[in-house]
Amino acid sequence: MTDDLASLQAETEAALAAAGDLRALEAVRVGTLGKSGSLTALLKGLGQVPAEQRKERGAALNRLKGALEAAIEARRVELDAAALEARLAAERLDVTLPPRPFPPAGPEAGAIHPIGRTVEELTAIFGAMGFGVAEGPDIEGDWFNFGALNIPDHHPARQDHDTFYLPAGPDGRRPVLRTHTSPVQIRTMLSQEPPVRVIVPGRTYRADHDATHSPMFHQVEGLVIDRGITLGHLKGCLIDFLRAFFGISDLPVRFRASYFPFTEPSMEVDIGWNRKTGELGKGGDWLEILGSGMVHPKVLANCGIDPREWQGFAFGMGIERITMLKHGIPDLRPFYESDVRWLRHYGAPVLSPANLVEGV
Ligand code: PHE
Repeated sequence: MTDDLASLQAETEAALAAAGDLRALEAVRVGTLGKSGSLTALLKGLGQVPAEQRKERGAALNRLKGALEAAIEARRVELDAAALEARLAAERLDVTLPPRPFPPAGPEAGAIHPIGRTVEELTAIFGAMGFGVAEGPDIEGDWFNFGALNIPDHHPARQDHDTFYLPAGPDGRRPVLRTHTSPVQIRTMLSQEPPVRVIVPGRTYRADHDATHSPMFHQVEGLVIDRGITLGHLKGCLIDFLRAFFGISDLPVRFRASYFPFTEPSMEVDIGWNRKTGELGKGGDWLEILGSGMVHPKVLANCGIDPREWQGFAFGMGIERITMLKHGIPDLRPFYESDVRWLRHYGAPVLSPANLVEGV
């Protein structure tokens, strides 16, 4: 190899060793092998080399090019590994660090929205009774929201629900914003084998708007399917839940015959309160709080479950409603107004998870 090539190789190797990161490495590569790089210039100059030396010179240049390319690649691998090491070191988590300090009390502290808080409490109480949590989509097929629940076309219950419809799909049926969480009963029974024990907290929609109704609101559905389930199980489960949720161990609970197409028999559930003072648990007045019943055999059959072998109960209640009653909130609308003063007043402290030890 001629002297100029040997010194170019030595210089380039020194520059590579000195390149501390991928950007510096790229600069060395461009300076050598790039369009106006030093080696590229020598290759371009090959034409001026006297013909008898050209072949040898060309071969030497190509060898050098190969060697430099290999050296650059080797350095790239080294620098990549070093960059990864540095990143791992920088992002290392020290699990022995103490927990984040509690947020300051006062105006800077956030709060958990009462709806979210109620959902946490519901989940804790029903969780202790062995219920899991199921979910479904807000935009539902007509069959899930109505048909499978034994609400046929032209059934008056469809009008009762003040349904929001979407443009019709290919089957000619209009999807709906689900009017209740009951379609998730169907989805759950279709996707899991009995026995089933789930609650379904979620958003629901009806075209209705005043101080106690919002076009978007929340419900929690409950569904239990097992062998030998009776009305007694339904009653025990709901009485225990209502007393735990409202924190009143002798809360009066009344079951009143009612009608839902998807349960038979159906019952509305009332709790005792004082209409004048709003106080729960005493006063001799009754307040309707939820709908419930034994799952209709047709609904079980619609989901491929044999009603002679399996029975169940279901219930559905409005989350805003029980939240308003529990905390004495008079108006529904501020739930959705994001007014931070309201949230500070009715919100629950962060980092105070709902659990049964607290006596939820
Ligand atoms: N889906 C009913 C409603 O929204 C409530 C309900 C659920 C009733 C389950 C019975 C059983 O009004």
